[in-house]
Amino acid sequence: MHQVLKEELPFNEYVINERWKSRLIDINAYKALHTKSLEQLEEFWASIARELEWFKPWDKVLDASNPPFYKWFVGGKLNLSYLALDRHVKTWRKNKLAIEWEGEPVDENGNPTEQRKLTYFDLYREVNRAAYMLKHNFGIRKGDRITLYMPMIPELPIVMLAAWRIGAVTSVVFSGFSAEALAERINDSQSRIVVTVDGFWRRGKVIRLKEIVDQALEKVGTVENVIVYRRLGLKDVPMTEGRDYWWHKVMEGIKANAYVEPEPLESEHPSFILYTSGTTGKPKGIVHDTGGWAVHVYATMKWVFDLREEDIYWCTADIGWVTGHSYVVLGPLMIGATQVIYEGAPDYPQPDRWWAIIERYGVTILYTSPTAIRMFMRYGEEWPRRHDLSTLRIIHSVGEPINPEAWRWAYKVLGNENVAMASTWWMTETGGIVISHTPGLYLIPMKPGTNGLPLPGFDVDVFDDNGKPAPPGVRGYLVIKRPWPGMLHGIWGDPDRYIKTYWSKFPGVFYAGDYAIKDQDGYIWVLGRADEVIKVAGHRLGTYELESALVSHPTVAEAAVVGVPDPIKGEVPIAFVVLKQGVMPSDELRKELRDHVRKTIGPVAEPAHIFFVTKLPKTRSGKIMRRLLKAVATGAPLGDTTTLEDETSVEEAKKAYEELRREIARG
Ligand code: WT7
Repeated sequence: MHQVLKEELPFNEYVINERWKSRLIDINAYKALHTKSLEQLEEFWASIARELEWFKPWDKVLDASNPPFYKWFVGGKLNLSYLALDRHVKTWRKNKLAIEWEGEPVDENGNPTEQRKLTYFDLYREVNRAAYMLKHNFGIRKGDRITLYMPMIPELPIVMLAAWRIGAVTSVVFSGFSAEALAERINDSQSRIVVTVDGFWRRGKVIRLKEIVDQALEKVGTVENVIVYRRLGLKDVPMTEGRDYWWHKVMEGIKANAYVEPEPLESEHPSFILYTSGTTGKPKGIVHDTGGWAVHVYATMKWVFDLREEDIYWCTADIGWVTGHSYVVLGPLMIGATQVIYEGAPDYPQPDRWWAIIERYGVTILYTSPTAIRMFMRYGEEWPRRHDLSTLRIIHSVGEPINPEAWRWAYKVLGNENVAMASTWWMTETGGIVISHTPGLYLIPMKPGTNGLPLPGFDVDVFDDNGKPAPPGVRGYLVIKRPWPGMLHGIWGDPDRYIKTYWSKFPGVFYAGDYAIKDQDGYIWVLGRADEVIKVAGHRLGTYELESALVSHPTVAEAAVVGVPDPIKGEVPIAFVVLKQGVMPSDELRKELRDHVRKTIGPVAEPAHIFFVTKLPKTRSGKIMRRLLKAVATGAPLGDTTTLEDETSVEEAKKAYEELRREIARG
């Protein structure tokens, strides 16, 4: 976690500006509104759900007869693809731009060489054709899982919406994950097909994605077909006869006006599985439904992003994460927005790429991450100053705590002190935003670094160790006390883990796994993870996952991974490694191990440092005391060490750490 000391949190720094003054509301008035929403929780959510179009109305808003297996809008039928497309195509929005897409490559003047503009009607046509392809060419049926391993191109939302149109369940795997991580996710979800591309651009380099799929499929039994979209036109793409098909070849046989009836799906029908890290080595397949998720995302699009017809919205998150699912694919399309999608790296070819994009399209709403903001802060003000960013009226961040300094920088340099800005708290499991400022509703004074107050309809609290509300200013655990529409519907194939992970620390209450503080105004400040999960540039990684990757290397006997603060990425992993007998530590081996983790999980997981030690600090019962390693690496006090079996293990870790510090100081 980014080390936010309680003392440095600006609990009393209130910010408001001219543009947003008209939305300003007294904190207590907002709280009264919030309380009222909780008093009639079901009616509150039903009134929002009525704004969507249902094929069949629900019989019951919330079925809480078998907690924590809650069900929302039971008996109701709807279709996400219909809500995102058909509904608009019947109105004037038919010819409104849905997507402004930009590829990574630029010409000698820095202008993008690839741009695509898709109207709602274009998207509708393409989604129908893709749905036709899935259904008729590949025999995909309701409930089948399909894995999507694709970069940020329009075909990713297209194939997701196509899948949801026919009731297939998507499992999107981030295109930065390794073959091994992909194989694990395909196996767990038992996907019948994989959709991918030949390759794509990343920081001027070609990533040959189809080859990674081939490696993954050596370890997978369920996949019948691979559909390959030709993104780059690469030569020598390996295609397995009878299994692999080119998207464009199949599409040649599908009419431009192909139409596939949107399947009326039960509200409870799963729409997607998304894998995320937890405290064990095995990623959890978080399952989301159709109706509840749609209602949650729809409400937050309005409250948090204040979407108007004339807006140009840009969420910079990759669709491989939940932010992209909710706020690139479903949310903006359901609300009928025009949005920007950019394929490439934020600072390619220069650190002003994002600012050029904002200027080019006139972006009004930006949803991004603290890591990106800190990176641009480091590049300096001159880059954003070269561009006209005056169109921006809302900037939100997500994924990790934003330090007050980064908030102030973005507010001033990007937002010209005239934007609404929040750090929206939520997680893969919540399906949508839970704590945020709400410029689309009423706005309470902002404070740099806070998450703000819980949104209407969300019963959020900070608990102490005994499950009692923690007093203001005291760190506790973030919880959600009542079910909410976008909530996860379990972990794919593992109901026990669902109960154990989220509903057992405080019985009957959802435990998020985060530390948080409530200030004297009731504003929530999420501080970081309370479990063995770390956030690297906003990406969620389990330390145990990294340890498993290290231990899978033939030279490694044991490993312990902890997250340490990093000025840009928030946190980075460092690893303490015990080598097998007879293996000599060396710089080459260190490099090899880092590469090994990259290959096993993906580039985001690469440890910043690897320390070779002869033993790890453990309790007498043999549990690794990561807490002590973290203290060593951050210079924090060790705290209680009475359960530590062997004191010298900590001394050794300290020595290894200090050696490295000296090395770094020497350059
Ligand atoms: C974890 C969830 C939700 C989309 C991206 C992350 C951290 C998320 C914030 C924020 C402080 C935040 C929490 C949470 N987190 N947003 N605004 N302030 N922390 O989804 O990968 O499921 O990670 O991200 O630690 O538990 P995710």
